[in-house]
Amino acid sequence: MPNTASDRTIAPLETPRLGEPYLLTPGPLTTAYEVKEAMLRDWGSWDGDFRAMTAELRRQLLDIAGDTKGEFDCVPMQGSGSFSVEAMLGSFVPRDGKVLVLINGAYGKRIAQTLGYLGRDHVTIDKGDYMPPRGPEVAAALNADPAITHVIVVHCETSSGILNPLKEISEVVYANGRKLLVDSMSAFGAVPAGIADLRYEAIVSSANKCIEGVPGFGFVIARKTELEAAKGRSHSLSLDVHAQWDAMNKTGQWRFTPPTHVVAAFLEALRLHREEGGVAARGARYTRNRDVMVAGMREAGFETLLADRWLSPIIVTFFSPADPAFAFDRFYELMKEKGFIIYPGKLTVVDSFRVGCIGRMDEHVMRRVVEAARTSLTEMGVASAAPPAVALAERSRLAA
Ligand SMILES: Cc1ncc(COP(=O)(O)O)c(C=O)c1O
Repeated sequence: MPNTASDRTIAPLETPRLGEPYLLTPGPLTTAYEVKEAMLRDWGSWDGDFRAMTAELRRQLLDIAGDTKGEFDCVPMQGSGSFSVEAMLGSFVPRDGKVLVLINGAYGKRIAQTLGYLGRDHVTIDKGDYMPPRGPEVAAALNADPAITHVIVVHCETSSGILNPLKEISEVVYANGRKLLVDSMSAFGAVPAGIADLRYEAIVSSANKCIEGVPGFGFVIARKTELEAAKGRSHSLSLDVHAQWDAMNKTGQWRFTPPTHVVAAFLEALRLHREEGGVAARGARYTRNRDVMVAGMREAGFETLLADRWLSPIIVTFFSPADPAFAFDRFYELMKEKGFIIYPGKLTVVDSFRVGCIGRMDEHVMRRVVEAARTSLTEMGVASAAPPAVALAERSRLAA
């Protein structure tokens, strides 16, 4: 376990609070006061000032992606993250293309469902709730089916919190002459996915994840050659990445009403991201959040679903205690009373809950989260946080 909880202590992340609970959820998440404050003014969508803000946002996101050669471009899309995933699929997978979808949770399943809506041929490797897709099995699937043109993988599968082996998968995809698309919704900005280190055609994320903005748009960062090839391919007017890209390049504007306040907030979030030290520093804070929180929860008797090597710094799944006095709804309310919103689990086999590590908070907050969890258990009359035996059996399957 990367447990360095008591090795060193950093100064608290000072940010004024407005009395609301911390969101220990993977977006919307707790944002800085300055990010909220940036929304206090109105912007004209066609005005030069706002166009400059859009251009700046695109430029800074390309910087974060590490596009040093100018081969990629960034296309913001209105809507939540799923809109951008759908836009990416409909724009970059040709109508006669075929996609291999790597599934190990809800977001991989949603991709397959989206491809169904789009009428794009696809096959899946489904690893269940949380087993990672691995290079050799992807290679075998690609060898077995020459019709596959694209592979899509979820970077951090937020439903379990597993960090999938993106580099391993990318290498296999390109060694087999196919193209990779990445849903990095909950990882971009905190987990490295730099264009120089990792090959892909397009990657998607959204405003309200690791950059710590508020919800309202997503963005597609794609190779310019793919953007050009996407002309006329999309099934949808509003989700056509090529059309949005082309219009933005020509006019500096979004094609339809942009989320002006969200963009203003996002620029402030980008400033804070830079000030903190970029992807490495953001990732380090989240990792520390995770380490402190996981160490404390384990001390309290809770067990994580995932073995340490697969734990992401984004969100952690814990098994619910076997003690019959434990009920998630009650635990949720008790945690909320103490200022923390947690997240239900998404496992199908055993009961679980999740605690997010991302957002404007640090290890000092995470220590209070652990304390709140301990106190809540006592209030519920739960003597032990240990999970049922079936949960531990599940976990040893993963370790094998
Ligand atoms: C990996 C991943 N993909 C897609 C989505 C969907 O994003 P949204 O809920 O913003 O549509 C999420 C949301 O958390 C996610 O974590």
